Amino acid sequence: MRAIPWVAAMLIVEIVTLSHPSTSNAFAPPDFDVAKALLDNGVDVSTIPALLDYALATGTNACKTACTSLRDLFGSKILTQNTSAYDAFTGSYWSQQQTSVDPYCIFTPTAAQDVSILVLIARLTQCPFAVKSGGHAAFAGASSIDDGITVSFESMKKIELSEDKRIASIEPGNTWFDVYHALEPDNLAVIGGRVAAIGVGGLTLGGGISFYSSQYGFACDNVASFEVVTAAGAIITASPTSHADLYWSLRGGGNNFGIVTRFNLQMIPQGLMWGGSRLHTEAQSPAVIDAFYNLGVSSPNDIAAAQILSFVYVQNTKLASADLQYAKPIANASIFSEYLAIPTTSDTTSVRTLANLTMDFNNKNPNGLRETYWTATFRLDKDLTGFIKDVFFEEVLSVADADALVPAITLQVITVPMLRNFAKHGGNALGLSEEDGPLLLIDSNSMWANEADDERILKFHRKIIERSVEEAKKRGLFVDYIYMNYASQFQDVMPSYGAKNYARLKGVARKYDPHGVFQVLQPGYFKLDGVSSRYTE
Ligand SMILES: Cc1cc2nc3c(=O)[nH]c(=O)nc-3n(C[C@H](O)[C@H](O)[C@H](O)COP(=O)(O)OP(=O)(O)OC[C@H]3O[C@@H](n4cnc5c(N)ncnc54)[C@H](O)[C@@H]3O)c2cc1C
Ligand SMILES: *[C@@H]1O[C@H](CO)[C@@H](O)[C@H](O)[C@H]1NC(C)=O
Ligand SMILES: *[C@@H]1O[C@H](CO)[C@@H](O)[C@H](O)[C@H]1NC(C)=O
Ligand SMILES: *[C@@H]1O[C@H](CO)[C@@H](O)[C@H](O)[C@H]1NC(C)=O
Repeated sequence: MRAIPWVAAMLIVEIVTLSHPSTSNAFAPPDFDVAKALLDNGVDVSTIPALLDYALATGTNACKTACTSLRDLFGSKILTQNTSAYDAFTGSYWSQQQTSVDPYCIFTPTAAQDVSILVLIARLTQCPFAVKSGGHAAFAGASSIDDGITVSFESMKKIELSEDKRIASIEPGNTWFDVYHALEPDNLAVIGGRVAAIGVGGLTLGGGISFYSSQYGFACDNVASFEVVTAAGAIITASPTSHADLYWSLRGGGNNFGIVTRFNLQMIPQGLMWGGSRLHTEAQSPAVIDAFYNLGVSSPNDIAAAQILSFVYVQNTKLASADLQYAKPIANASIFSEYLAIPTTSDTTSVRTLANLTMDFNNKNPNGLRETYWTATFRLDKDLTGFIKDVFFEEVLSVADADALVPAITLQVITVPMLRNFAKHGGNALGLSEEDGPLLLIDSNSMWANEADDERILKFHRKIIERSVEEAKKRGLFVDYIYMNYASQFQDVMPSYGAKNYARLKGVARKYDPHGVFQVLQPGYFKLDGVSSRYTE
């Protein structure tokens, strides 16, 4: 039954492999010769003036050398400081913290082979780099790098459908809106993000919760194959049948294993759906939490249903926002009856397209503000949910006067049907299984205006996580899983996948990247060896 998509995936694989004959060696052996690998990619190091002394380049000089060589090789694909193109790029991140990072140069590859050359030049010169897809990771350095090379995928936005319309081959410059909008005319969709401007790259590599996750699992569970540039500059395919260990690692392992240049995603039939936000006053909290809990528990009864519940504090007002979604074009499905009986102050639910719904959410998450996300996971429990809500409204008073502050505690259920889908295609790396569920996933987040408020706002979020975790431990409800896509830079994601998976991930990294290129030369985001010492409060 599932065999057909793989055939389509293999066809894509074949085309990719044939067009890159120089990529047979996926690994970098101990005596790996970077200059030789570049030569295999058609780049003769001895003909690039900036590289004559590459062995002598150190520190900032390393990136001067790297950027000058890339400029020689790629011309206008390199953006340099103090140009409008450079400023447009650095201004394109979601959070102000990422916007204020200044790379030495920006590289805009148009093909996987460009990315391969970038990795090799970075190795040769020892210039650090970062990779940006949708740029929605919140903290500075997550997908940006001061004084290094930031790779922008703005010129890699292809979306190609396989002939049998089972696989969408998507380049990493796309946002989910781009993808859904392109698939809409065929009444097709893929399992991806719920907010228009989020990138395909970061969301998928960290897991990826979709409106359709109870039916299909996380985004990473619906990847037929990844095209990956390895530390050796090889362009390989990771799928259940090709480099299966790497495929497994990329399903949740983030940016630790390579740079993904194509996400070949399984498509699903999808027409109109129902969804929107229902706002409630704080007085309705007990009823809202009952509805949240009961829907989470009864998810197996109707896997078309999804929910996100946020408690928000704006202008001294406590609000609850219940975002409800249904994968079919049916309003007020009976599984939502408990929610729908609660009086609202506003209600945007309607039958619409997936792309349309993601625009709704996007409007609530504008670019240009300071941002932080923090997370924790617990066994789903009604009283604990209420406790966490109370902690949020209590602690928020310490920061409530910060300019333009919008703080929220966002609650979701990782449902049993979602967890069941984690096992698809050999499983993912997240370390959770059906027996763990249903789980309560919390995302404690704020947007605000001024850097001067950073310290106390970060403290506020740390406090919420600490108090929730402490209480959950007391009640025997704590689950040691940190969801990468919602984690702060102070949280150590990789060990939370469990000792066995953590060891396996490290083994796979050693195999494909024995020199630790993606650990050392790409220092941002969640590394295998813990929270970077660069992050201090
Ligand atoms: C408003 C908003 C809504 C969100 N909604 C959802 C949601 O519905 N579901 C959900 O699960 N999460 C959601 N998230 C969290 C989101 O998944 C993460 O913020 C994710 O990191 C964003 O991906 P990106 O590509 O936009 O980010 P980026 O900042 O571009 O990338 C994040 C990380 O991934 C790495 N990366 C990106 N592309 C590649 C690649 N091609 N190869 C290797 N590494 C790569 C980057 O280097 C970086 O370290 C949301 C976040 C925000 C801010
Ligand atoms: C860019 O402009 C700033 C401020 O004027 C200056 O300090 C910096 O050296 C310039 N960088 C380059 C590469 O010209
Ligand atoms: C769904 O419920 C809302 C009120 O919650 C109502 O306004 C709307 O007409 C209902 N739609 C359908 C199709 O029943
Ligand atoms: C979404 O649908 C609503 C209602 O039909 C419409 O007003 C709005 O313009 C649509 N938005 C997008 C982005 O298509």
